[in-house]
Amino acid sequence: MPYYVTTPIYYVNGEPHLGHVYTTVAADVLARHMRQRGDEVFFLTGTDEHGEPVAQAAEREGVTPRELAERNAERFKEVARRVNATNDFFIRTSDPEHEAVVAEIATRLKESGHVYQGLYEGWYCPRCADFKTENEILEGNRCPIHLIELDREQEENWFFRLSAFQEPLEQLYAERPDWVLPRNRYNEALSFIQGGLNDLSLSRHGLTWGVPVPWDPEQTIYVWIDALLNYYSALRYARPGEDLTERFWPPTVHLIAKDILKFHAVIWPALLMAAELEQPDKLFIHGYLLMDDHKMSKSLGNVLDPFEVMDVYGTDALRYYLLREVGFGQDGSISPEGFETRYVAELANEYGNLASRTLAMVAKYRDGVVPNADPAPEIAMQFDGLAATVRQRIDRVEVSAALEDVWERVRALNRYVTDSEPWTLAKDEGAAVELDVVLYTLAEGLRVVSVLLHPWVPDSAERLLAALGREDLSLETAELGAIGGGATLGELGQLFPRVEPKAEAPA
Ligand code: MSP
Repeated sequence: MPYYVTTPIYYVNGEPHLGHVYTTVAADVLARHMRQRGDEVFFLTGTDEHGEPVAQAAEREGVTPRELAERNAERFKEVARRVNATNDFFIRTSDPEHEAVVAEIATRLKESGHVYQGLYEGWYCPRCADFKTENEILEGNRCPIHLIELDREQEENWFFRLSAFQEPLEQLYAERPDWVLPRNRYNEALSFIQGGLNDLSLSRHGLTWGVPVPWDPEQTIYVWIDALLNYYSALRYARPGEDLTERFWPPTVHLIAKDILKFHAVIWPALLMAAELEQPDKLFIHGYLLMDDHKMSKSLGNVLDPFEVMDVYGTDALRYYLLREVGFGQDGSISPEGFETRYVAELANEYGNLASRTLAMVAKYRDGVVPNADPAPEIAMQFDGLAATVRQRIDRVEVSAALEDVWERVRALNRYVTDSEPWTLAKDEGAAVELDVVLYTLAEGLRVVSVLLHPWVPDSAERLLAALGREDLSLETAELGAIGGGATLGELGQLFPRVEPKAEAPA
């Protein structure tokens, strides 16, 4: 089965922060899990480089938009590598191949009568690159997101007949109740549509950093239309000589945060209808990462640098923390103290200790070879149906709930060590078979949770599976008892060593 997952393409007017990393990691978890199922996966991320926000930031920094884009696109690529994202392509909207597809689709829209010329007058926020309606703006004509005073703009533009798609959009929502998840976002988007749609500027005048309108090069394609099309254009040129749209279109899931819901849940499906392209299976809208109760964002200045966080805690710990601390779909606060707590209490003490104790006991009592036995019934019961539940969760993009389900079993295994007291059994020769059961159950349980946890903590899970002598990652093996004993255990070392918080920089 083909599976196509995307993140938003990030603006290059700033450097990556933890908010961007959040979506990329979540998408990576989906991609890795689907590969474990044996599906054919395409995972796309990238950068949104055109338009006013970037042009203005470049001007402030005294460089050209292209220079700023080059520099920051590199940072976004680097952070994706550093968090171990397995994206199959990194799209940049300044790629000439992307620009060509934007021009092609714009022409298609024009030729099929979805585009007309008109006069635009309205409130425009250059930071959002978005026109705001009267009922969206705050008192004093301010942007509801950036709080800056907006300009009243008037210009001749090309328009996309968004209003013509109100009914078809309502029908899409009626036919596919799961196409926007979670449900509250579906309701929000639907009521926006039902409130009536205005036509949308397809182009802007006087902005040169973008894709020229093919039939009127004085005008530039509106950056959001340019940006949304990345999801389609990437498949057209990611593999030279191949058109991946044949295999991967339509997308399985677009991951976004709620800030860009309207663009993805209203404008995007209308554009696809007009271009006669198939709709994505679903959008999943996650919440905001907050710091001190405010959305982490560059304009508020309350951002954490992902590189610094990974220097201290490591990549897996960051991946784990982000998807564990905040229920995926909801807003939630993160903090350096929160990182430390979960790192020590969960990764080091629950998962890491379980691994080192199990390996040490197999070494001590069975010369490092996992005995052959049947799994203990009380643990088998708790693992029953786990892999199937995780699959269902991932199908619904519940990446935190799936992690919680597996973590429950890590805890169950820890309780099992305490309750079964293998060190006492080891003293009693008559309890050898019982000890075999305990040691096999622990090694096998660790193997199963590690296969399932792999998408969240890939490096650690792989190291542990290698030490268990069982490196198969396929999801079919994620059943307790699927693989017998007999493996000789290897070295592991500390999975999650003590964290040395970075020394404060001298004042
Ligand atoms: N360029 C547009 C998207 C175009 S997609 C066709 C854009 N870029 S952005 O750089 O502002 O990125 C917004 C996205 O970054 C959010 O939708 C979300 O995926 C992620 N996040 C940025 N800050 C975040 C938080 N504080 N919390 C959660 N996600 C965050 O919008």
